[in-house]
Amino acid sequence: MKLYFAPMEGITGRIFRNTYESVFTGQIETYFAPFISCADKKGVSRKDRRELLPQNNPGIRLIPQVLENRAEEFGYLAQALKQLGYDEINVNLGCPSKTVVSKGRGAGFLKDPEALDRFLEAAFETCEKSKQRLSIKTRLGMEETEEFERLFEIYQRYPYSELIIHPRLQRDYYKFPVRTVFFDDAWEKRKNDQVIYNGDITKCSQIAALKEKYPGMPALMIGRGFLMHPYLAQMIRESEETENSGSDQPSPEHVKKLWQFHDSLYAAYKEEMPGMKVVLFKMKELWFYLGESFPITDDEAGKRHKKALKQIRKSQRYEDFDGAVMQLRQG
Ligand SMILES: Cc1cc2nc3c(=O)[nH]c(=O)nc-3n(C[C@H](O)[C@H](O)[C@H](O)COP(=O)(O)O)c2cc1C
Repeated sequence: MKLYFAPMEGITGRIFRNTYESVFTGQIETYFAPFISCADKKGVSRKDRRELLPQNNPGIRLIPQVLENRAEEFGYLAQALKQLGYDEINVNLGCPSKTVVSKGRGAGFLKDPEALDRFLEAAFETCEKSKQRLSIKTRLGMEETEEFERLFEIYQRYPYSELIIHPRLQRDYYKFPVRTVFFDDAWEKRKNDQVIYNGDITKCSQIAALKEKYPGMPALMIGRGFLMHPYLAQMIRESEETENSGSDQPSPEHVKKLWQFHDSLYAAYKEEMPGMKVVLFKMKELWFYLGESFPITDDEAGKRHKKALKQIRKSQRYEDFDGAVMQLRQG
């Protein structure tokens, strides 16, 4: 089973990807870059270019993602990405954030299936000419699950390379339980196997059931699970090699890798980011998820975790952050 690293804006940028790959080499088949939008008629902004340049992502299979609702802008982006060497593009039809949705982009595009259909027609035509593959990453709809029937029918008419479904509505954001039955329905009705599940996979022990439920699915896309437990991909690989269903308990080797990843990322951010405030902001963002590897149980260890995680959230200087991390490192 291939593993895809989900795009996460503000988190899984170039520095993150390179660090992850250097520690967990070869575990992830494809990284999806966080969304970009068209910068004037140039297509890709200087900042995004730096993120996406293949030489800045060595040894990584990267798929850029675009967040657009106008065919013309999509065309500029596709062309610019082609020039950067990308033969595959992903289109974002899932971002639930208010600022994006209010502009009719991301999940906001789902409320106008006719306009979406016209956009996809033009986008696939562009990609056919430029010989680029186009994949779709979508939610079920904006407000009601009934919306998905029409959306799925539209998607099925296009030659997408992959259809990645995160079975939540826009109004569910990231918290409301995933609406798995609607994914199951899409899987039943799929025209080919290039349909990929994404959502709330955080444990190795979930994988066997997913494989059984969706035989032939080429990959699973995981986002926050990899941030909560950076060794999750390695655990999944190991359980596949040994053909057991996988323990969710990390081994000392996994924990060692977690720290190796953490420390390398911290060092890389310090080297590349402009100052302590930004570095700490980035690290706290990671810890929002990574904290899940340090559970707040009722025992002494749980109390220590709670105190240290709070100290991380409040830290304003490296000393405070480092002190809190040291507490967690001691178990
Ligand atoms: C902080 C954050 C940023 C995200 N940014 C993007 C993005 O740029 N593009 C996108 O398609 N999805 C984005 N997502 C959604 C994830 O790619 C993924 O679909 C979602 O988190 C569900 O998968 P998971 O439960 O495995 O995390 C983001 C999610 C989070 C939490």
